[in-house]
Formats: sequence, structure tokens, C-alpha cells
Amino acid sequence: MCGIVGYIGPRSVVPVLIDGLKKLEYRGYDSAGIAVIEQGKVLVAKSVGRLSKLEEKLEAYTPEANIGIGHTRWATHGRPSDVNSHPHTDCTGVIAVVHNGIIENYLELREWLEAQGHKFKSETDTEVLPHLVEHFYDGDLEKAVQQVITKIEGSYAMAVISKNEPDKIVAARKDSPLVVGLGDGEYFLASDIPATLAHTRDNFILNDGEIAVITADGVKITDAQGNKITKEVFHVQWDAVAAEKGGYPHFMLKEIYEQPRAIRETFSSRISADNKRVVLNELSLTEEEIKDLRHIFIVACGTAYHAGVVGKYVIEDLARIPVTVDIASEFRYRNPIIHPGDLVIVISQSGETADTLAALRESKKAGARILAVTNVVGSSVAREADDVLYTWAGPEIAVASTKAYSTQLIAMFLLGIHFAQVRGTIDAAYAERLITGMREIPDQVQTILDDLEDLQSFLKKYAECQNTFFLGRGLDYAVAMEGCLKLKEISYMHAEAYAAGELKHGTLALIVDDVPVVALATQTDLYDKMVSNIKEVKARGAQVIGVTFKGNTELQKVVDHVVYIPETENVLAPVLTVIPLQLLAYHIAVARGCDVDKPRNLAKSVTVE
Ligand code: M6R
Repeated sequence: MCGIVGYIGPRSVVPVLIDGLKKLEYRGYDSAGIAVIEQGKVLVAKSVGRLSKLEEKLEAYTPEANIGIGHTRWATHGRPSDVNSHPHTDCTGVIAVVHNGIIENYLELREWLEAQGHKFKSETDTEVLPHLVEHFYDGDLEKAVQQVITKIEGSYAMAVISKNEPDKIVAARKDSPLVVGLGDGEYFLASDIPATLAHTRDNFILNDGEIAVITADGVKITDAQGNKITKEVFHVQWDAVAAEKGGYPHFMLKEIYEQPRAIRETFSSRISADNKRVVLNELSLTEEEIKDLRHIFIVACGTAYHAGVVGKYVIEDLARIPVTVDIASEFRYRNPIIHPGDLVIVISQSGETADTLAALRESKKAGARILAVTNVVGSSVAREADDVLYTWAGPEIAVASTKAYSTQLIAMFLLGIHFAQVRGTIDAAYAERLITGMREIPDQVQTILDDLEDLQSFLKKYAECQNTFFLGRGLDYAVAMEGCLKLKEISYMHAEAYAAGELKHGTLALIVDDVPVVALATQTDLYDKMVSNIKEVKARGAQVIGVTFKGNTELQKVVDHVVYIPETENVLAPVLTVIPLQLLAYHIAVARGCDVDKPRNLAKSVTVE
């Protein structure tokens, strides 16, 4: 977690750092800080709380400098406080460091440094870094950083400045993202591209073990031993406007409304013009290898995991390959039985989620073939996988994932249909219906968004509730899990998702008068069973919002309110069903006065375990 920025060039550094940090607040926002070199001195300003608190502090005195680093924090070691905020400095305030990640052996290093007389001020793991640089500094900052990284274990993206070399930022990464933005006579450093995009579209994406030495004259990239590396420039296709709110009150709402485009872009180059075939040219998996697949694992966290649950249903149903879907933090430690040749699909919007990355590496060690489904080009997951199927959702800024999820579902449909076509487990007519159905999805999503504009007033009455339940069977259950997570993370309302048939084995005890229940009823084969389950909760006094296909005139007789979605193939329904659930979560969160884009305790990119 945490976002780091840096700048060196002719501009006044403070506004550049603050603007960059604003773009990275999704990575953490419990404190923020900057360090600059002004007239040969390292000046540090930091504050617990949102970035605006730091800005207030800087109003009293804004340093005039042309080089600096900045940080927005999501606390891991040490509670959010002024003193635990980054940047951290060495004993004499000569060196300042910002860091994203976790130094796992920091206690041992701290004891070692303290024994040599170093004085620590904070409770953080990060503070060992400036003291280590101080320890190794012998007139060459770059060399000192090289030595530091031989001592530390864990993950890091770090940026270091020193008053002894006031024209230089030294940055390094391992398991945490870092990019260097290449301007004209000026250079930017950031955890993610949106922070550099207002200034340049050209970047170097640092790989693990690489060190960047940035001066106003240029950027030198080396390996950990100091050997020079020639990097290719990564040119960003999307512009800064794509990363802004574009008139919407929140990024989340903007991203919900971007789904028709995101979905279309994700499938359009991957289906044949005659709607007969899915074509995944980017995959190196051969037809023989697909036919030989015996077991697929899908591994991911949070919303991406929920997309994986849909993926399991879809791939098993269409391609008849057994799929195990796992939460990455469980998978990596449960000694999974992976055979060489098994396919592990990792799903990650950011491509930087620590547990997902670790699961990928474990699977690779076990001989599995790795297919990454990710939204971020050049992310760690993308670089370490054997194959990548990119979702083309564009930058997702809100912590609550929406367009990333719907495009991940499209990726699951594409894989399910492709594998099924290669293995001959679905006939040509059904494949064509599915592909045609997929083509219709963007317009259908738009219809739902247009129809549900009045949802806001209807939902107000639910904003005061304390408990909610989401029910479904089969694919509807998979979507219920996602709707439930969305509501919890942004509205702080307790919610549980349940496989409707399981309710009477315990949870039904919680259904009392007026408890809101969202019941998804789109799966034809399971429809009658679902209606029975709805009647069970109605009989206990629940207020039921049903979601079903247009044309179903029956559901309204058993529920209190029906939300209709356009008709589609059952397998494709999740990408439509989730839209009202995203809007439900959004409007309830707004009605409850929550900070929709930056929910408490969370961060967009979870790069720590
Ligand atoms: O970047 P990733 O897709 O790997 O992130 C996984 C989860 O952290 C993420 O989906 C999280 O659950 C979202 N906040 C949910 O909205």
C-alpha cells in the first residue's frame, strides 16, 4: 500500500508532489508527507489525516525547492500519527526516505542499528531505511542504496534524497510498483502512472531489483549491483482526463457509468466479426494444451475473487474442466495440489496485490502454467505470468471495484467460450448465441443505468438499516457475494451473501421483520427453488428486492420491489445483475454520508500481505 512520488526539474516542487499524491490517495490516506531540499537543507513536512491536512500545514510555510519526494500512507507498522508518517529521516536529518511495502526483518535491523547508536523516532519498519543509508553512506548515495537492499527482506518501493547530493533522487523497487515519468528536462517518480500523467505519457516501469538514479540531466537505471540497464520507454495510451472524475460526484459513479465502454473494449477485438468464435491470439496456450487441461485453479482477492467464482461456474459449465477457485491469501499457504501443466488463472485489477502475486509465484514453482487477467499493463502479475489477458477497463480509481469486475467477468466468458470451442464441449449454435449475447451486453448495461436513475429515492428507506442479506443460487449466488462486498465496504452496513438453499441451515434465524433482502432470480433452472427461498424470508417479515429478467411477471407477486434487467443467456447474466447491486451500494453509501471513493480502513491497491 502507500503511494510515493518524487520530482526533480525546474518547477517548484511542492505543488507537483501534492498533485501527484492526490492521484495516489487511493493507495492509502491515513497520513501524508513530503521532503524537499531547500538551500542545501532537507525539509520535511508531514501530517496524520488526509492530504488536505498536509496542505494546511504547508500554508504556513511552503518551501521553494526543485527536488523532493512525497508519500501517502496506509498504516501497517505503527498507527497513523505525525511521527509515523513518511518521509523518515536518519539521525541528523541529512537523508529522507519514503517507502511502500514492508521491511520484514526490520526488528532485527533496528536492534543492530540501535546498538551502533542510531536513534529511532517512529514505530515504523520504514525508519530502518534512512538509518541504513546513513550507515552505508560513504560519499555515494547510489552505492549506499545498493548496500541497503542487500540487507533488507520484504517488499519495497523507495525513494531517497540526501542534502549531501542535493541534485539526485535514488529509487529502488522489489514487489511494489514504481515508475519514472520522463519529462523534458524534468523527471517524475510515482507508484502509479496517474500520478505522472498530467506531465508526461512516457515512463520507465522499474522491475524488481532495479535502481533508478534520477537527476535533472537524466535517468540512469541499474541492477542491484550497479550494472547499467537499457529500458524501453512505456508510452501510456490513455490521458489524464481518463483518470479524472469527468463531472461525476464520485469516481465510483463515473466508473459504474463507464462500464458499457469498458466491457465493449474488453471483448471487441476478441470475437470474430461473424460472431462465431472467440479469438484469443494473445494466449500462447495451444489447442492441444487446452484439450489436455485437467484442472484449472482461479486465484484472486476480494472482488477479483468474486469474478473468479463466476469463472468457475462458467468454465466448468461450458468447457467441462474442473475449476478450483481460491482466495489468494488462503491458497498460498494451504499447500495446494498442483500438477505440472495445470493452469492457474490469477485475476487482479491492479496486478500488484501481494497475496495474488505470491500465489502466482507458488504456482509457478509447482510447475503450473500461469494466465493473468489484469487491468494494468506492465504490472507485476502481468510481467510474471506466462500469458496475460488484459481487461481494458481503463484506470480504476475508486477503492470499490466496479468496471474492473464487469470486465473480469467478460474475461471469464471469453475464456469459458474459447476453451469450450477448442474442446468441442458446446455446439456452434450455442457458441454463437453466447457471443451474440456478449455483443449486446454494453447496450443492456446502458439500459439498466438509464432505467435505474430513479433508484436513489427508492433506496433512501434502506439507508438506516443495520443488516442486509443477498441471496442467490448458482451464478446468482456468485453475484450476491459481490453485491454484498460492495455494500459493506462503502456503506459500512452489515451484509451477508448466502446461497439461498443454505439459508435454512442457520442464517434464517436472523431474518426478522423489515430486514432488507436482495434476492437474485435470473437462473432459469433454479428459478422455482429461488422463489421458494424468497417465500421463506417473506414469511419471516423480510422486505425483499428481487432482481430478474424483463418479461418475468411472476416475481412481483412474491417480492416488495422488482429490479428488471434485460434478457440474456443465463451464463452471461452476472454482468447485468451486478449493475443494480453496484448502484444500490453507491446510493446507500451516499445517503449514509460515507466517503464513497475512500472508505475507511481500506486502500485501492493492497501490496502488503
Ligand atoms: O487489484 P486487485 O484486483 O488484485 O484487488 C483485489 C481486491 O483488493 C479488490 O478487489 C478489493 O476487494 C476491492 N476494494 C473491492 O471493491
